[in-house]
Amino acid sequence: MIMYILGIETSCDDTGVAILEAIDNKCRLLANVVSSQIKIHAPFGGVVPSLASRAHAENLDICLKEALEINKISLSKIDLIAVTIGPGLIPCLLIGVNGAKALSYILNKPIIGVNHLEGHIVANILHETGESFESRAWLLPAIDASKKIFSFPAICLIVSGGHTQLILARQIGDYEIIGETRDDAVGEAFDKVAKLLGLGYPGGPIVAKRAEKGDDSAIDLPRPMLTTKNLDFSFSGLKTAVLYETKRNAEKLGDEKYINDICASFQRAVVDVLTRKTFRAVEKYQVKTIILSGGVAANDLLRLEMNQRAEELELFCLTPHKEFCADNAAMIALAGYFNKERAGSWRDISADANLRLD
Ligand code: KG4
Ligand code: ZN
Repeated sequence: MIMYILGIETSCDDTGVAILEAIDNKCRLLANVVSSQIKIHAPFGGVVPSLASRAHAENLDICLKEALEINKISLSKIDLIAVTIGPGLIPCLLIGVNGAKALSYILNKPIIGVNHLEGHIVANILHETGESFESRAWLLPAIDASKKIFSFPAICLIVSGGHTQLILARQIGDYEIIGETRDDAVGEAFDKVAKLLGLGYPGGPIVAKRAEKGDDSAIDLPRPMLTTKNLDFSFSGLKTAVLYETKRNAEKLGDEKYINDICASFQRAVVDVLTRKTFRAVEKYQVKTIILSGGVAANDLLRLEMNQRAEELELFCLTPHKEFCADNAAMIALAGYFNKERAGSWRDISADANLRLD
């Protein structure tokens, strides 16, 4: 049986529409359209919710039209609508949720509300096949094929602009939050450090790039909560330590090497904490699989450290393809596919800015 799933994502600053084709238990991605708002928010050094919401409202139907046209699929062929209902910025979530509800009503098709963070987790299963499908074809499941490469239970580290969580995933759909940040999210810390160094937005990729040329032991920065027994994180102190460092050495701020060294030292401190805590969770819960997710999962040093450590311990570490680290609707359509039994009426769907995974 063929099923077409329309995915819609508007939780933060990316408008995303994707179409997933599911044939029995195999899927392929037919379209994945993302409209980024980086240019809108860059002058502010962070996402401005009211501007983001307006941009989603302007772009959602354009993205939908483009997604349908890529494979000449008519809207009437859609069998299921999957939409991010949270967590995220409420003015942004409402645009996607209301758009999806209207489509569900007009098309008389079921709708499923997706947790954005579950989307980030399952994004790990989207792999380029290079098989017989046309260019840009991404495959997931082969759910059975995926079983060969990883198994549950797994520890998921979700690191994005809004979240930093360690999750024990017993199965897709069965999650327990076992640790989380007590203040800033990791991506937020990258963005704030970039802002105070005057490097631009979004900070993560810029700081990572500058770090490549820096010495990661040049500046002594704290590793917050590294040795605490619990699995929680804290990143605001690290950001403040960078602030004090730059205040003490204000005359060096024009020095390219100094900035590179700060970026490298900051990135090293973050990766040290994330890796140590993730593997502490792995040990505690005796799992064999680690799943890295979210925008910060694009960070090369983090990917490398997690993979190396996993290899040493003969564990399996899953990292998403870089195209699917940042927010996108492909991962939302895929999460919708996995949860399709829960699909129902548009009347029962509502946005929840603080939606939790457990
Ligand atoms: O998941 P995402 O696209 O949006 C949220 O749901 O928050 O994550 C965006 C975050 C931003 O804070 C961005 O600076 C960060 O991911 N990011 C990175 C890298 N690429 C994106 N952080 C560190 N290194 C990167 N290479
Ligand atoms: Zn996200």
